[in-house]
Formats: sequence, structure tokens, C-alpha cells
Amino acid sequence: MIIALNNKSNLEKIEFESYIKGLESISTEETIILCPTYLNIGAANSSLKIGSQNVSINENGAYTGEISATQLKSYNVQYAIVGHSERREYQRETNEEINLKIKQLLKNDITPILCIGESLKERESNQVKEVLKEELSIAIKDIKEEDKKKIIVAYEPIWSIGTGIIPTNEQIEEVFAEIKKIVPESKILYGGSANEENIDQLKQIGAIDGYLLGGLSLKLEKLKIFLQKLH
Ligand code: PGA
Repeated sequence: MIIALNNKSNLEKIEFESYIKGLESISTEETIILCPTYLNIGAANSSLKIGSQNVSINENGAYTGEISATQLKSYNVQYAIVGHSERREYQRETNEEINLKIKQLLKNDITPILCIGESLKERESNQVKEVLKEELSIAIKDIKEEDKKKIIVAYEPIWSIGTGIIPTNEQIEEVFAEIKKIVPESKILYGGSANEENIDQLKQIGAIDGYLLGGLSLKLEKLKIFLQKLH
């Protein structure tokens, strides 16, 4: 399974040094993708697979504060999260920008981890399918078929992120089936409050190819239990 760890804006230099030692000491057969902050990517120097949490829509050039896909590649970054709901909300990231980011990543042979997910309001007003279809179809617009299948999709209901609440298995299965209609060959992750307790419920869902973990990525003892319980 793919286990992507989203550190978000956490872990300072010294903290990260001990964190990464702890993480590397966990023995597991899963594919662990660590997505630290940009600065900590530089400090990672690790045997783990590394992902970024974002990428520029542009190539190298006069774009102050941005990090390009080619720069990420030069630091051995193999994956990149794009379209996380926190960036959609706080940085006002649009589906069109996410599409440009995915194109930059694919051009540089970096695997995009595309986050999509509905808000509580959208779920309550029965708009889940529409919202996800729009997010997904714009994000993959004009991308070649052979490249589409390289994209990993992470279904992260916004109302689950950091709240301790997860959807029912039926709700997740329904959404995964919709995603499969658009990108049948993509791997699909679940993200949003997945932890060492609710994994017993989540693992009943056969369609899940892995997890995107936020809070749990920072709690190594609990992460270890989560990994042990996966199968
Ligand atoms: P969470 O975050 O596991 O803390 O809910 C997941 C994410 O935002 O990717």
C-alpha cells in the first residue's frame, strides 16, 4: 500500500532530524512517501521516498518564493501533493492552477498526488459527485491517457481532515467508484483523520490503495500501530 505522510507546516530543523531517524527505524513493507516542508526536503537525505506538498505552476525563473518541478527533481523528489484543500482554501488555489502544476510534475517525471474532496455543506446539499467530478476533470484536462494513469488521487473529504470524523465505508466506496469512472487506472488513497483506531474499519474497503496521513504522520508510535494493523 501507499502511505503518504503529509507533515504540513510542522517540524523545525532539530525536530525533523530526530523525526526522520525515528521514521526510518520503522520496518514496513508499505511504500512510505514522506512529504515534509520544502526546507526539510533539503535536510531529508534519506532512504525514504520523498514528496513535496506543493509545486510552482511555472518553470525556473522570476517567480519569487516559488519552487519549480525541476528544482524538486534535483533534490530527488519523486512525488508531489497538489490541490490539498488547505491550499485551495488559504491560497485560493484553483482547479486550473492545479492542472498546470500536474503538467509541470509529469514533465519532470514526478508523480502527482492529487487531492480532491467535498466540504460538509456540499455533502449535505448532495453535491459530492458534481464537486469531485469538476475537481478531477479540470485537474487532468489535456493530459495524455498514458500520463493520467500515473496520477495518484487522494480522496480527502474536507470535513474529515483533522476532525477525527471519517465517512462511512459506503460513502468512501461510492466516491471511489465515481473516481474510477474518470481515472480507471489511477491509484486512489483515502485521507482525512485516518488513524490507528479507525484503520480496522477502513481496511474493510478493498478499493483503497493507500492513505494520506496528516496528524498521524507526526505521531510515530501510533503510525507504527497503524502500519501493523493494515493487513
Ligand atoms: P489528517 O490530515 O490525517 O490530519 O486528517 C490529512 C491531510 O490533510 O492530508
